[in-house]
Amino acid sequence: MQYLPQFLDLKSRPVLLVGAGEVALRKLETLVRAQAQVQIVALEVHPEVATLVAANPSTLQLEQRGYVPTDLDGRWLVVAATADRQLHQGIANACEATQTWLNVVDQTDLCSAIFPSIVDRDPVLVAISTGGSSPTLARLVRGWIEDRLPQSLGRLASFIGSKRREVSAALPVVQERQHFWERLLASPLQEMALRGKTEAAEAEFTAQLAASVDPAIERKGSVALVGAGPGDPELMTLKGLRLIRNADVVFYDNLANTELLDFARRDAEKVYVGKKRAFAGIRQDEINALLLTAAQAGKQVVRLKGGDPFIFGRGGEEIQVLADHEIDFTVVPGISAALGGASYAGIPLTHRNVSQSVRFVTGHRSSDRTNMDWPELAKPGQTLVIYMGLPGLSDIMQNLQAQGLPAATPAALLQRVTLEDQLAVVGTVANLPERVASAEIRGPTLIIVGEVVRYRVAGRLQMPTL
Ligand SMILES: C[S@@+](CC[C@H](N)C(=O)[O-])C[C@H]1O[C@@H](n2cnc3c(N)ncnc32)[C@H](O)[C@@H]1O
Repeated sequence: MQYLPQFLDLKSRPVLLVGAGEVALRKLETLVRAQAQVQIVALEVHPEVATLVAANPSTLQLEQRGYVPTDLDGRWLVVAATADRQLHQGIANACEATQTWLNVVDQTDLCSAIFPSIVDRDPVLVAISTGGSSPTLARLVRGWIEDRLPQSLGRLASFIGSKRREVSAALPVVQERQHFWERLLASPLQEMALRGKTEAAEAEFTAQLAASVDPAIERKGSVALVGAGPGDPELMTLKGLRLIRNADVVFYDNLANTELLDFARRDAEKVYVGKKRAFAGIRQDEINALLLTAAQAGKQVVRLKGGDPFIFGRGGEEIQVLADHEIDFTVVPGISAALGGASYAGIPLTHRNVSQSVRFVTGHRSSDRTNMDWPELAKPGQTLVIYMGLPGLSDIMQNLQAQGLPAATPAALLQRVTLEDQLAVVGTVANLPERVASAEIRGPTLIIVGEVVRYRVAGRLQMPTL
């Protein structure tokens, strides 16, 4: 390790900045955020540096002149940001002799201190360094981390910080305290504090602390219904991922990609509640009961559901049961198969020339003519996305034609959308069943019917077509 990462408290401490050009300006902005007392010496001054100095008269002093060695006197840190390499070398020699930390812009070999890339969620700070080898790479890494940290992380940190004393007094044993914080940060309090629901967070904190001090008090669990998207794990939301990471137990079924379980804690329970394998035929009321029992036992539960929990996912029934038993729940939307499938196939779901609305329809009971509003479904100017329609494909296509949908209307069956073996079979409402019958189709599948299918744009990365 070439550099020791440290966070310096520069508030009101004297710092010297040599140079006042554009690069010096970036350093100065960071020093201003750190509330340092900055003396700037420079022959030429960038107008924005002058503006910054004018805006911070009590902490920034600017002298338009050349650097002199006595400028180093009493400084905790020196930043050299000029175009004069000889000057930089002289400053570096002097700093070495006086044991003063020095940062030299674009001359890593002269630096005893470097400015990292920063992700700022004050009071949470993440500093990234590549040891000066690539500032561009450092910025890229910063972007990755930026994406992962909630914008309101600072709120959560401040809330937790304000409770430290109270927790230390209530739980004097270090290990108990640590355990308490871990539980608390994995509980719904995290979500409450992040969203600024201070009252709810206070109540949750009080209840959790009381339960930790007195084990006789029951802990409250919670359930998150998390939409896992149609298959590609990268389509999971950041919020869903965070909840999976926090969960004590994750209930999943065969539509949710099991790769997502790798994000759960190693000690988290992962329980399959799908309709295949040992759980063949598990009923919805049994799943509801499992969620309820786990939450009532004080666990943070994630129910991972394929696509979106509220689209043909029975999410509504699950939260009703939880609400009836006063269990806290949250629903995290996911990308539904219709959206994932259309995007990956290159089929726009609406198109101003031909389709002004989209209907998501279940084909599950489509052979039951009374169950579907066929005249409505056969109307022109719309797109139909039919879930669970493969077994009734022929019936569906016949019923649509019987109600006046032209036989030449384009239609596509999409297999395993967003997954590696995704596939599209494209035809018309008249010939799609025949085309599908001659292809080796493996579920799950969905059907798109409408003129939009004609507007499919097949790029090299799009879903292949049979
Ligand atoms: C019980 S529904 C669940 C839908 C899910 N909640 C959603 O929003 O996508 C299951 C049906 O969704 C469709 N489906 C889900 N994942 C799919 C995928 N990867 N490819 C094609 N269809 C899919 C199929 O029609 C499947 O029979």
